Amino acid sequence: MPLTTIVGALWGDEGKGKVVDAINEEADVIVKANGGGNAGTTYVIGDKKVILHLLPSGVLRGKRSLLAQGMVARPDQLCKEIEEFDNLNLGIDPRLHMTLHYHLALDYAREKAADLKAKGDNKTSGGAIGTTLSGIGPTYEQQKSRAGIRFFELCGDEAKLRQKVKANYEYVQGIIRQLGLEMVMPDRKIIEGKYVIEDVPLSLEQCEELAVESGKKLKRYMADVADEVLTAYKEGKKIVFQGAQGTLLDIGFGNYPKVTSSEVRAPAVYTAVGIPAFPMKVVGIVKAYPTKVGSGPVVTCLDCQKWPVDESFSDPVAKIIRERGQEKGATTGRARRVGWPDMVILKYSNNLNGFTDLALTRFDLLSDINPIKVCVAYMIDGKVTDKYPAWDLDALTRAKPLYAEIPCFGDITGIRNYDDLPSGAKQFVELMEKSTGAPVSIISVGPERSQTIFRNFKAF
Ligand code: IMP
Repeated sequence: MPLTTIVGALWGDEGKGKVVDAINEEADVIVKANGGGNAGTTYVIGDKKVILHLLPSGVLRGKRSLLAQGMVARPDQLCKEIEEFDNLNLGIDPRLHMTLHYHLALDYAREKAADLKAKGDNKTSGGAIGTTLSGIGPTYEQQKSRAGIRFFELCGDEAKLRQKVKANYEYVQGIIRQLGLEMVMPDRKIIEGKYVIEDVPLSLEQCEELAVESGKKLKRYMADVADEVLTAYKEGKKIVFQGAQGTLLDIGFGNYPKVTSSEVRAPAVYTAVGIPAFPMKVVGIVKAYPTKVGSGPVVTCLDCQKWPVDESFSDPVAKIIRERGQEKGATTGRARRVGWPDMVILKYSNNLNGFTDLALTRFDLLSDINPIKVCVAYMIDGKVTDKYPAWDLDALTRAKPLYAEIPCFGDITGIRNYDDLPSGAKQFVELMEKSTGAPVSIISVGPERSQTIFRNFKAF
C-alpha cells in the first residue's frame, strides 16, 4: 500500500516524531493534513533536537513536504520555520486557512473570560479548555462561517487582503470588547521554570503588515496539494500523512468540548487532503502511559484530575514519569497530566482509526515501576464497561478504573528483539494487542533511533 497515516492514539504528545522519522526514510512525499501551530513535534537528529510546529517532518530529509487544505497555519510562524532550511521542497494548498494574530487574541480572550467566570462562581476550574492559545479554534470557526482568509488570498491582491484583514480584526475586536477584555496577544514564557503569559497589545496595522509581507514571502510555495497527492499516488509514490494531536482531541469524537478544532482521526485525512478513500496503512502511536494537557477527564489520572497540574501535589509515580519523560508541552511548556495505561480508550481509538499497526513509545520509562497498573475496564455508576463514553464528561469524571497489574520488568533499553523482552514487558504488549486486535509492531525502548524493536513491520 503506498499510503500510510500516522496518528496519535490518545491525547497527543505520544512521541510521533521518532516513528514518523523512521517511516519517512522510505517515503517520497510527506503530508500534514490537520491542526496548526498547536502541534509541536520533537525530532532528535544526532545530538540536535529540532521542534517543528507546522512543517512536515519530510523537510528534515529534503523530501517533498506538503501542507494540505485541512490544516491551518500562522504565516509568521511558517516564515520563521522556513528560514531554518535551505532549498525547501515545500507545497502549501491554496485552500488552507490562515491563522492571523487576531485569532490568537480571540482564543486568549475566551480562555481568560472562562477562567474569570469560574473564579466569580467560586470554582477552582471552569469552562476554560486549556487551549494552546494558538488561535486554532477561531481560525476553523472563521473557515466555517466563510469569513476566513485562505493561503490563496494571503498571496493574492494586496488591497483585497487588507480589506479582509480589517473586517476580521474589527469583528474579533467587537467580540473581545463584549467580553470586557482588550485586544491583546498572549506571549508565553517560561520564567524560573514557571509557565507565564504576558499581554501584548495588537493593532490592526500589525495584522495587515504581517499578512501582506508574509504573503509575498510564501507565494512561491503554493501548490494544489490534493491534485499533487493524487498524481503521486497514481505514479506509485510512497506517501505519508503525518497526523497532529491525538484521537481523543478530535472535534467530533474526542472529549467535546475539551478538544481541538480539527478532525484528528486517520479516515479524516481523505477529506482533509482531498483524495478518494484509497486503502492505507494506519499506524497508531501509543505512549506507554497517557498524558494530557488542557482540561477534561482522564479516568486513570495520577494527578488528581487537577488542571493546571499542581506539581507539588502529584502522585510519586506521576512525578517520576513526568520527570523522566520531560512531560511538558513542546508548544506551551506546560506540565502534562500523567495516567496509568488505559486499554478502554485505546480500544475506542482503534475503533475510530482502524489501526493496522501500533507503535508503542516510551516503554522503557515504565520499566522499574512496580506494579504497573493497566486499566482494562471502567466502573460507571455500578456498571462495569469497556466502552468509552467520550461524549459524556460527567460519566467519565465518575468512572472508576479497574486495573490489571503487571510486575516490574527491569531495564529494556538494550533489547532489540521482541523475543528477548522480559515476560512482564511481553504481558503488557499482549494485553494491548488483545484489547485492540491490532499488532504492536514497533516498540520504542529509548530515545535513540537504534533503540527500537520492529516486529515484522512494513512502513508501506
Ligand atoms: P487548541 O488546539 O489549542 O485549541 O487546544 C484544544 C485542546 O487540545 C487543549 O486541551 C490543548 O492542550 C490540546 N492540544 C492541542 N494541540 C495539542 C498537541 O499537539 N498535543 C497535545 N494536546 C494538544
